[in-house]
Amino acid sequence: MSDDATAGGHPTGAIEIDPMVYRQVLGHFPTGVTVISSLVDGRPVGLAIGSFFSVSLDPPLVGFCVARTSSTWPSIAETGVFGVSVLAEDQHETSGRFASKAEDKFEGIRWEPSPITRSPLIHGAVAHIDCEVYEVHEGGDHLIVEGLVRSMDVHRPDVGPLLFFKGAYGRHARL
Ligand SMILES: Cc1cc2nc3c(=O)[nH]c(=O)nc-3n(C[C@H](O)[C@H](O)[C@H](O)COP(=O)(O)O)c2cc1C
Repeated sequence: MSDDATAGGHPTGAIEIDPMVYRQVLGHFPTGVTVISSLVDGRPVGLAIGSFFSVSLDPPLVGFCVARTSSTWPSIAETGVFGVSVLAEDQHETSGRFASKAEDKFEGIRWEPSPITRSPLIHGAVAHIDCEVYEVHEGGDHLIVEGLVRSMDVHRPDVGPLLFFKGAYGRHARL
């Protein structure tokens, strides 16, 4: 084992990465934008998540990374289920709302319950994925959440996704 390894087997990260540089470099990797949501005591809650990714076909798993500082994630985790709304290119205001700390982020937002878990899905989203929490892993200052897909559908096949790149919203252009 090298001197760089801790008892847990992780490198210590002796070479410091400036958080500004980390953000700037990773900002050059574009993402889509999703809203992860659940019904907590009958009330819809959610947050904007760009780190959403596909994980496995068999079993069908998807995942995302959520900051340990998220105020909404702990209550979603308690429900054991979540919905994923893949935002469309005309939904950047919705993204901004779900990236905020607003008291009621769903105020004025049209939504309907997902088919299996009854999680709130945002009207106008390109697609949705309905999940049960499968596993939650440690990921530094984030948690890596895996969801078992229970249902999924595309709602607006002819509308592009909302993209996030270098700190700004954009849309997809086919080459
Ligand atoms: C485009 C975009 C992508 C985001 N992606 C993530 C993400 O992957 N993980 C995360 O924890 N926060 C992400 N955020 C930030 C959260 O949405 C933001 O911190 C929000 O205020 C958290 O709300 P909460 O404290 O109610 O959980 C993203 C924000 C935007 C605008």
